[in-house]
Amino acid sequence: MNPRHRLATHLTTADSVTVLTGAGVSAASGIPTFRGAGGLWRNFSATDLATPTAFLRDPHTVWEWYAWRRGQVADCEPNAAHRVLARWTQTRPLWRVITQNVDDLHVKAGTRDLVRLHGSIFELRCWNRCSASPGAWRDERVPFPEMPPRCPHCGALARPGVVWFGEALDPGDIAAADALTACDVFIAAGTSALVYPAAGLLHRARTHGAFTAEFNTESTEATEIVDVAIRGPVEVTLAELDALL
Ligand code: OAD
Repeated sequence: MNPRHRLATHLTTADSVTVLTGAGVSAASGIPTFRGAGGLWRNFSATDLATPTAFLRDPHTVWEWYAWRRGQVADCEPNAAHRVLARWTQTRPLWRVITQNVDDLHVKAGTRDLVRLHGSIFELRCWNRCSASPGAWRDERVPFPEMPPRCPHCGALARPGVVWFGEALDPGDIAAADALTACDVFIAAGTSALVYPAAGLLHRARTHGAFTAEFNTESTEATEIVDVAIRGPVEVTLAELDALL
């Protein structure tokens, strides 16, 4: 049986299915990935742009980069992969999506009960964590009327509501993602499977006995350990799989 049919067979009888997504799922929507050809971390330094130290040293540069990315993302629409996953979560009670993406395209596609491990590029937080500001607030203005944007409560600098390198993920999100590794089928889609703790979820799912699959255009660290690896653009391969269900 070919890999796609094998996976389809498991999905047909599965109660709980968890899909972990990464930047590759949004590539067809026009959003650059991080590590592949043309990836953001090929042309920009994560250390200079995506760490608390970088923000402390030069908030203007960090915000210019995030404002540019917000502009890029604001014009993008969900693709077939987002749409298939959204429909799965809407029609099957225990089929869920965990994403590392901060572009909100899963939300735009209508995904139910999405776990966003790395936050959202359209949320902001008070750098001073002032008592008046909520944990994070939504701000979809592109461009910002004032740069860098400020906390509306205390006037301190605002920061992007994303998780930077060296920062802990939200404990509630980690717990939610971890709980979803106890599933019948676990799929890693469009992720290089290199960044922890997200990358560890696949290992956890295997420990729980899940049937595992990868959707990617290339081989990754995950390829060796999954039950089936499906090569090709996920916006095509996932739609093809969906047609078999
Ligand atoms: P990466 O850029 O590391 O990996 C994207 C993966 O998607 C690669 O393995 C590509 O081969 C694959 N890919 C590209 N286009 C595809 C397509 N159309 N169909 C299927 N696969 C495709 O992105 P992530 O794994 O999401 O974190 O990166 C994880 C985290 O590292 C990000 O959330 C971000 C980054 O630094 C933070 O900023 C904290």
